[in-house]
Amino acid sequence: MTKASPISGDKSRVLIFDTTLRDGEQSPGATMTHNEKLEIAELLDEMGVDIIEAGFPIASEGDFAAVSEIAERSKNAVICGLARANFKDIDRCAEAVRKAAQPRIHTFIGTSPLHRAIPNLTMDEMADKIHETVTHARNLVDNVQWSPMDATRTEWDYLCRVIEIAIKAGATTINIPDTVGYTAPAESADLIKRLIETVPGADEVVFATHCHNDLGMATANALAAVAGGARQIECTINGLGERAGNTALEEVVMALKTRNDIMPWSTGIDTTKIMHISRRVSTVSGFVVQPNKAIVGKNAFAHESGIHQDGMLKNRENFEIMRPEDIGLSGTSLPLGKHSGRAALRDKLEHLGYEVGDNQLKDVFVRFKELADRKKEVFDDDLIALMRTGTDAENDHLKIVSMKVVCGTGGPAEATVEMEIDGKDVTETAEGDGPVDATFKAIRKIYPNTARLQLYQVHAVTEGTDAQATVSVRLEEDGNIATGESANTDTVVASAKAYVNALNRLIVRRGRVGEGADTKEISYKDLA
Ligand code: KIV
Ligand code: ZN
Repeated sequence: MTKASPISGDKSRVLIFDTTLRDGEQSPGATMTHNEKLEIAELLDEMGVDIIEAGFPIASEGDFAAVSEIAERSKNAVICGLARANFKDIDRCAEAVRKAAQPRIHTFIGTSPLHRAIPNLTMDEMADKIHETVTHARNLVDNVQWSPMDATRTEWDYLCRVIEIAIKAGATTINIPDTVGYTAPAESADLIKRLIETVPGADEVVFATHCHNDLGMATANALAAVAGGARQIECTINGLGERAGNTALEEVVMALKTRNDIMPWSTGIDTTKIMHISRRVSTVSGFVVQPNKAIVGKNAFAHESGIHQDGMLKNRENFEIMRPEDIGLSGTSLPLGKHSGRAALRDKLEHLGYEVGDNQLKDVFVRFKELADRKKEVFDDDLIALMRTGTDAENDHLKIVSMKVVCGTGGPAEATVEMEIDGKDVTETAEGDGPVDATFKAIRKIYPNTARLQLYQVHAVTEGTDAQATVSVRLEEDGNIATGESANTDTVVASAKAYVNALNRLIVRRGRVGEGADTKEISYKDLA
């Protein structure tokens, strides 16, 4: 079999491999529905991502269905699925990516001493397994990526040996994961450079870098790896991913674009689509982007202090190294009010990167009017919060119908909540230590559950006492984690809706786990 050409030969081009739907979705609490995954894959494809890692097909029926449908629908990107080092995983993965115009199997095994101990294989046994699994994958598709998981803590000689075996067996991309975010930029560059110089056959494959952010160095390590010779960066939107996350796509892409003078490599990404996809991923994953996050944070282009505002007015470049328009942010921020019509709302939403159909516009317009009645001016951030938090999905099991809370000095707060559970109305009253506690207790009376509150966070979207509050709630139940979010000018209402949103997501997660193994449940330990 002839080897597929892995790269065009253009040494200044870096391939962007997005793993939001696989590594990103693995982060505790990030749950995306099937349709949400399809939507994100379509946005990634449209923005010019070269390879989309769409999921882990053996992990669940849901993952398999998502990878298969993404493979069938995607127009430009290579569609990749993840598989552990065994035939069952690899066959399932091949089946899932089969309909892609350009399918890829990504198979991996932990090669460091700690990770070798998990399946309890000797170095020789693992080397044999790598040979047979990569050969098997290569017999199924032409495009095979292989990763020695925890590469940065693998002995140098052994790392060279197993990479050589994978290349000989037919791997076309060799990914070097810094699985635990342990490396540092100089070491990251040096490792890739030495591997390319040392391993026989290295010049026939693409070297990739996959960095986790445990020490906050993922983006720097990925860019350093490119300087060392890597030509594929693995990343996720908003840096989503296990623990502290992964290299953020928006960071590497904008760093390469902005500092092309010292990092002369280009990507095929349409950067004007960044802000929109960042917001969509934040909404569907339930992971709020921190305000000071590079590129996509709410404050990334905000100028608060007098000196900075003055400098900006004189010359934007005094305090901005990129233009907000480059990532798809509109420069203007004229507020809408209660007299604004549908056309103005649609126009503003389009400026913010949201394409809304007629039905969605109808729904958003009703909620916009409700908000405009409560708030004099509706700013861009209010609209983003409105779009992010959406309405109760039609198939949600639990919905808040109404609520009333009494609180103040001189006694416990009391909340009466009316909810609809699968179409049936239930009302309960509870007392609590403050209005939010009383509300959550009333909800728990209506829908008894053992979910533990891991996080409760409130932040104001805009200025003033009539600002919308965005509330995030993270729940944990039997190892399943789900995050919910809601925005309202009433903090207690936003809290109740965020709590119910998280419960609904937990119910979805329970269903998925019930179907079979789940990405977060499945062990990386060899199945074979
Ligand atoms: O971080 C890691 O090592 C991974 C592998 C599966 C490539 O995500
Ligand atoms: Zn990873």
